[in-house]
This record gives sequence, structure tokens and C-alpha cells, in this order.
Amino acid sequence: MKLKTGDTLILATHNQGKLEEIQTLLSPYGLNINSSGNLGIEEPEETENTFEGNALLKAKYTAVKTGQISLADDSGLVVPALDGMPGIYSARWAGPERNFAVAREKVNTLLEDKPRNAYFLCVLAITWPDGSSKVFEGQSHGEIVWPTRGEGGFGYDSMFVPSGDTRTYAQMTKIEKAQSSHRAKAFKLFQETLLDVY
Ligand code: IMP
Repeated sequence: MKLKTGDTLILATHNQGKLEEIQTLLSPYGLNINSSGNLGIEEPEETENTFEGNALLKAKYTAVKTGQISLADDSGLVVPALDGMPGIYSARWAGPERNFAVAREKVNTLLEDKPRNAYFLCVLAITWPDGSSKVFEGQSHGEIVWPTRGEGGFGYDSMFVPSGDTRTYAQMTKIEKAQSSHRAKAFKLFQETLLDVY
């Protein structure tokens, strides 16, 4: 199943930044993009224990509520030396205040002198009104560094140096980050599979 010009796509998020980022990525395709946040649809609780499970849960929930094609993403930082944590709990490690300085400090403290390789992972899930779904995954591998470096980005960006670079994601422009980011890779697969012009 393909997407075509004029299709409506509801993004399952209340995050205005995410909506704008995805609207920019999809701007060449003539889709009508809106979000569950703008439509006043609540976000379901992320009760699954995988990125894919949570992305599908959000996309399916929004497709049922709106009757429209719905797109959700779930992402996070996976640190093998911490048994994959923070993983699906990446946002939750920042607490209700969304304090990512605390979350970054926690990752660094737990790591001590353990191996610092890590990766970001993003799963995109799209669900059609008939319930059928597809998922796309992107990963970005690199290293955790301390102290943090850079003022840009968000979340764990300032403690992550992608392989092949010496700068953290927080020291890069959005365009530079998109050369290797997990989200950009997942979107590339999404675009190649579901959209005709790319
Ligand atoms: P969610 O996908 O909205 O559930 O949030 C995932 C969490 O993972 C975010 O709040 C960030 O903390 C973290 N995360 C995901 N992608 C990135 C990234 O590109 N840079 C930094 N942190 C990220």
C-alpha cells in the first residue's frame, strides 16, 4: 500500500517539535498532515516492552480514534553495557519534569568504566484505517562521552558521538545530524517504501 498526494496522515504525538520535524521531512509529497495533539486525542500509555510494540500501539490507537492513516514513532538510547537501558524508558529517565540533565548524569554514573558503545534506535509505525500496519527501523551507532558537549539537539544528544565523527549530535546542525541519525534512516525507508518521489 502506498501513500499518495492528498492523503491525510495523522501523527500520533503531542510534541509540536516532532510534528514540525516530520512535516518538514514529508513536505515534498503533498500529504495533509495533522497530529493527535492538535485533534485533542489523548496519547495511550506505552505499555509494550519493545520500541516496535510501543510505536504500533500509538499508531493503531490513533488510527482507531481518527479513522485516518496514522503514523507514530518510538525512539531511545540503547546502552548494551547497561543491559539496553535506558531503551524504551529513555524519556521516562528524565522524570515528570523532563529533566534530561538528570537522565544523562544517570547514564554516565551507571556506566563507570564499562564499555561506552551505544546506539539510538527509532521505529516508525504506520497504520491504515483497516488495521493493517507497517514498521520501519533506523539505528545510529556511536559512543557515550562525558562531560557532555554542545548546546544543540535534545535528550541524550550532548553525550553521544556517532561513529565516524568526533562531535556529539548536540554540536551538529540538524542537517548534519540527519546524515546519520536513526530517525532519518527510518524515514528514508518509510519514504522509499510508501512514497513515489524521493
Ligand atoms: P519518544 O520516542 O517520544 O518516546 O521519546 C524517546 C526519548 O528518547 C526522547 O525523549 C529522548 O530522550 C530520547 N531520544 C530519542 N531520539 C533522540 C535523539 O535523536 N537524540 C537524543 N535523544 C533522543
